[in-house]
Amino acid sequence: MRIIVFLWLFFLPLCSVLFGINIALVSGECLGGSRLCLEDERSLLLQLKNSLKFKPNVAVKLVTWNESVGCCSWGGVNWDANGHVVCLDLSSELISGGFNNFSSLFSLRYLQSLNLANNSFNSSQIPSGFGKLGNLVYLNLSDAGFSGQIPIEISHLTRLATIDLSSIYYLTGIPKLKLENPNLRMLVQNLKELRELHLNGVNILAQGKEWCQALSSSVPNLQVLSLSSCHLSGPIHSSLEKLQSISTICLNDNNFASPVPEFLGNFSNLTQLKLSSCGLNGTFPEKIFQVPTLQILDLSNNRLLEGSLPEFPQNRSLDSLVLSDTKFSGKVPDSIGNLKRLTRIELAGCNFSGPIPNSMANLTQLVYMDLSGNAFFGPVPSFSLSKNLTRIDLSHNHLAGQILSSHWDGLENLVTLDLRNNSLNGSLPMHLFSLSSLQKIQLSNNQFSGPFSEFEVKSFSVLDTLDLSSNNLEGPIPVSLFDLQHLNILDLSFNKFNGTVELSSYQKLRNLFTLSLSYNNLSINASVRNPTLPLLSNLTTLKLASCKLRTLPDLSTQSGLTYLDLSDNQIHGTIPNWIWKIGNGSLMHLNLSHNLLEDLQEPFSNFTPDLSSLDLHSNQLHGQIPTPPQFSSYVDYSNNSFNSSIPDDIGIYMSFALFFSLSKNNITGSIPRSICNATYLRVLDFSDNTLSGKIPSCLIENGNLAVLNLRRNKFSGAILWEFPGECLLQTLDLNRNLLRGKIPESLGNCKALEVLNLGNNRMNDNFPCWLKNISSLRVLVLRANKFHGPIGCPKSNFEGDIPEVMGNFTSLNVLNLSHNGFTGQIPSSIGNLRQLESLDLSRNWLSGEIPTQLANLNFLSVLNLSFNQLVGSIPTGNQLQTFSENSFLGNRGLCGFPLNASCKDGTPQTFDDRHSGSRMEIKWKYIAPEIGFVTGLGVVIWPLVLCRRWRKYYYKHVDGILSRILLGQDQGRANGGRRAHRIRRRRM
Ligand SMILES: *[C@@H]1O[C@H](CO)[C@@H](O)[C@H](O)[C@H]1NC(C)=O
Ligand SMILES: *[C@@H]1O[C@H](CO)[C@@H](O)[C@H](O)[C@H]1NC(C)=O
Repeated sequence: MRIIVFLWLFFLPLCSVLFGINIALVSGECLGGSRLCLEDERSLLLQLKNSLKFKPNVAVKLVTWNESVGCCSWGGVNWDANGHVVCLDLSSELISGGFNNFSSLFSLRYLQSLNLANNSFNSSQIPSGFGKLGNLVYLNLSDAGFSGQIPIEISHLTRLATIDLSSIYYLTGIPKLKLENPNLRMLVQNLKELRELHLNGVNILAQGKEWCQALSSSVPNLQVLSLSSCHLSGPIHSSLEKLQSISTICLNDNNFASPVPEFLGNFSNLTQLKLSSCGLNGTFPEKIFQVPTLQILDLSNNRLLEGSLPEFPQNRSLDSLVLSDTKFSGKVPDSIGNLKRLTRIELAGCNFSGPIPNSMANLTQLVYMDLSGNAFFGPVPSFSLSKNLTRIDLSHNHLAGQILSSHWDGLENLVTLDLRNNSLNGSLPMHLFSLSSLQKIQLSNNQFSGPFSEFEVKSFSVLDTLDLSSNNLEGPIPVSLFDLQHLNILDLSFNKFNGTVELSSYQKLRNLFTLSLSYNNLSINASVRNPTLPLLSNLTTLKLASCKLRTLPDLSTQSGLTYLDLSDNQIHGTIPNWIWKIGNGSLMHLNLSHNLLEDLQEPFSNFTPDLSSLDLHSNQLHGQIPTPPQFSSYVDYSNNSFNSSIPDDIGIYMSFALFFSLSKNNITGSIPRSICNATYLRVLDFSDNTLSGKIPSCLIENGNLAVLNLRRNKFSGAILWEFPGECLLQTLDLNRNLLRGKIPESLGNCKALEVLNLGNNRMNDNFPCWLKNISSLRVLVLRANKFHGPIGCPKSNFEGDIPEVMGNFTSLNVLNLSHNGFTGQIPSSIGNLRQLESLDLSRNWLSGEIPTQLANLNFLSVLNLSFNQLVGSIPTGNQLQTFSENSFLGNRGLCGFPLNASCKDGTPQTFDDRHSGSRMEIKWKYIAPEIGFVTGLGVVIWPLVLCRRWRKYYYKHVDGILSRILLGQDQGRANGGRRAHRIRRRRM
């Protein structure tokens, strides 16, 4: 038999026999063919070839079309028994043009299958000539480079079973295909035979009812519906239920802004449902999970979509379950273990909680598992039966307990293990180091303890990332590490490792890019034996904070260093010139803060041009402040002894700056006008200097500042600023200056204001009632000015109404109005300020009784009402008695505990002497950390505006508050939680 076939092929050497035309029609590939080809059709193809523009060295099919070669071996062409072309596949030939209505292609009337996908018919319209190919069953023009309106002639192809006009890879500048006129309904109305409709990326712009009805009324046999990124809107209309043969629904990246309809659960042949990034809300119908044929379910990135996992029966087809970034919640049921065919499970960033079921160990086909960013607790189950697993990500949960070695037996395909940010404890799971495919071990921010013992490094080890930072590991760093030849990233920071480290021993790790040993009990010896060799050849990031360094390591030959952190050491003396020449200026981030450095080596030419983050704070640097790096985004010179004025042209260097601090120096003179160039500035801190003159109003009027801290200087004049309508200010601290006049009412535009401290100036105004609409205000300090009139706000603008309304300042933590001329009563509505922790109204002319409502203030830990004209008895039986008498002294009419004067008919019997010096200062040192005084934070901001990749990377290094200020991240919830925690701690 075999011989006969062979002989037959021998006698018909030019053509293979036509076979499987049906297969070809479905797949669009032209396989096999007839031995006949008609001369007419042959020359039509040659004409077509001559009209097309393509590169002969790239195209693989067109180049075989040649008179000298038998037509049956022409690539991508398929002839029927009568010698007609029935199948033409010119996909991926990089054809760039020359295609129009007169193309000879449209004379190939017998064509049944045509594939022109992946070419670039440069942004021309789809020619109407396609309408002449009335026999087409398969038409694929996806990513062919066509654009503009899809012509009505396509709708004349009534035999079409598959049409694909998707454009997924848009080139910028090329307009998308669109279905406007004709619209979707007109396109499909005659295509009764259609089984597959692929229009991904086509601008359809239709409402839910419109597109659903267009499909259900015209293409009842549709099996594959693929309309991703089509500008469809919702809700998905019930008429769609008519498409009972549907097996694939892919509608990613549309905006339905509505719930998922339950009837999708009635499709008995549904295998794929992809609704990622569709703005879905409401609760996902559980019924859909129960469709027995369902293999792929992707609902990811629908942040308002709620739902929970049902019980899963045995023998389900589910292969891929992707629910990341939704509001799915509740537990993962034990019956998840029934999904024996599951290869992919992604539940990242949802609200799941409870333990990770042990039954997941039954998911032996699992390849990819991401359960990160939920509230899972309890132990990590063993996945050792899932031999195909390549990725396990359980990071950012509340998992606890030990990780046993048996968990990892046989996971020979595991590439990534991410268990960061949990509460795992016990000793390090050393077994991991023997897994042959493992590239990334990420265990940071857990409670692993004990030694990191020596281990056997297998010759096949491909480990490239080892992140053990922020655990409780101790003892020496094992030398086995130096045999991990593929290591790129080694982070051992924030542990308790001890011993002496020879930095030069890391030279063995030729591929090391990132080395962090910061914050251990290590002593680093950074001297070089062979000074011509770079200390660490490929290193881009080196972090040796708090490593007991006494001198700067010689890094002058490092060729690619971009990030260097040597903060918190005992490095003294001069900052050498070579530091600016590292890697010919590759350095982008330098942190030398918290050392004993005194000056910069002369001649000081200039900083590395790429240096974007420079942190020199808390040293002993003196003299002229160095002109900041040209493109810096973060500059911190605070807490030194610089004693110059600010250079006049400072603004030129600040055009990309987000953060600039000169706080706690001896800077004199005024703020130069050029600072107005610093239009991106988010944090400006010049506090604790001797600056004088007027504060340039552009700082405020530029409108980007979140923190302006100028406290403890000698600024004078009135603040006649116009706060912009879109004011982003969160902290305004002008305490202890010589400012006068009124508070501009436009400050009320700053709806995000949290701290307003105007204390110790010469301001002369009424109580700034209009602040009450700023719901975020937490600290209001007006102490020691010339404020006068009643405290609080009139209920209406009736003259003489009792000022009462204080209740709007609901988030206020600190209120200090002391040392002013306020008169009238303490408004009883002050009792509504439930968050108040510190209240100082001392040394005013307040009269009347202490309102009993003050006792409502459960969080109050500082109270000073001394030296007023208050009368009557101190309200009893509540927290007010827990304050010392100093809180009430100097009010002649006041009586009752804790004062010495007992009450008789509500008046004091004996008077206390007027003590002074019992003033209670607001304890700024406690408050400061949580209100955004960011000086002194050893944190790092990169050229955030410019480079998104770095922004993502460095985000995790940035303090939450600072990042919120600088990046505008919405961390409100996280900070709120931490704040509450801190408040609790302070009260303990
Ligand atoms: C579902 O698929 C099966 C097998 O492919 C087919 O026989 C059946 O007709 C389909 N059901 C519907 C409603 O189209
Ligand atoms: C879904 O979002 C739309 C648009 O925002 C809203 O009108 C509708 O009430 C929401 N439905 C549910 C169930 O949340």
